[in-house]
Amino acid sequence: MNTHEDVRKDVSEHYARAVSGGGGCCSPREPRGSAAKLAGYRPEDVAALPDDAVANSFGCGNPLAFADVKEGDVVLDLGSGAGIDLLIAARRVGPSGRVIGVDMTDEMIAHARRNIAAAGAGNVEVRKGIIEELPVESATVDHVISNCVINLSPDKPRVFAEIARVLRPGGRMRVSDIVARDLPDVIKAIPAAYASCVSGAISEEDYVRGLQEAGLVDVTVEERLVYSADQLVALVASDVEQAQGGGTCGCGGIPSDIVAAGAHLVEGKVWSAKVSARKPE
Ligand SMILES: C[S@@+](CC[C@H](N)C(=O)[O-])C[C@H]1O[C@@H](n2cnc3c(N)ncnc32)[C@H](O)[C@@H]1O
Repeated sequence: MNTHEDVRKDVSEHYARAVSGGGGCCSPREPRGSAAKLAGYRPEDVAALPDDAVANSFGCGNPLAFADVKEGDVVLDLGSGAGIDLLIAARRVGPSGRVIGVDMTDEMIAHARRNIAAAGAGNVEVRKGIIEELPVESATVDHVISNCVINLSPDKPRVFAEIARVLRPGGRMRVSDIVARDLPDVIKAIPAAYASCVSGAISEEDYVRGLQEAGLVDVTVEERLVYSADQLVALVASDVEQAQGGGTCGCGGIPSDIVAAGAHLVEGKVWSAKVSARKPE
């Protein structure tokens, strides 16, 4: 039986390899950089970012697309990766605002810090930590965002409670994340399916209930992108491994024929949802 630490270690090693290799796992990303655009980012936002932040985008949506972030706000990004959403948020909040990213993977944090420096963003910082125990003071954040991360947590109720803790009264949470229903056991049995954002996903109903149980209100699923089999293949495929022609794809090295067969099995059962919630006044 894997402990929560084991799960986080596997996930962290997966993203350390992925960011070093340069291929996205949690997003269709062929050719490099298209993930960000496909996921609903405005071209002008993407154009203003360092290439590395775009190429190492591993999201499954754009949580900021529907967030009313304004100048002077404090934004917290859970699992901030190489920093794509940190940098877009930094422009929105301006010099009087603040953006904080939390991530557990050293390699991701190093990329994010380089990208923040390259963008000259003086209002962003990245803290090393886990989203189940956020290194952030209570009731200090106006907006919690997250892009394709909470599905990776082995303790989602804890993450939801942490979101409720750090938000100021009236603060908003908006996340893009993978949700799933009725995943076949054969898929759940593939070890790499967890870190590839598939088998750790919970149902939309459990997501909504979990946030409500944490004390958040107005919990709403604002948008859904239900993946086709082709998109699912892209979701788990690694362009690095494919480029090497090794006959495998998937950031965990899942053989490509298994990815294709598995994609058909889960078609219609896995989607990206934009979920919002509010901490009561
Ligand atoms: C799929 S990537 C998404 C990165 C980024 N949000 C983006 O859109 O490009 C997942 C990120 O979450 C981080 N992560 C996963 N589980 C975590 C946890 N329990 N605590 C902290 N970070 C975590 C990983 O290190 C990785 O950087």
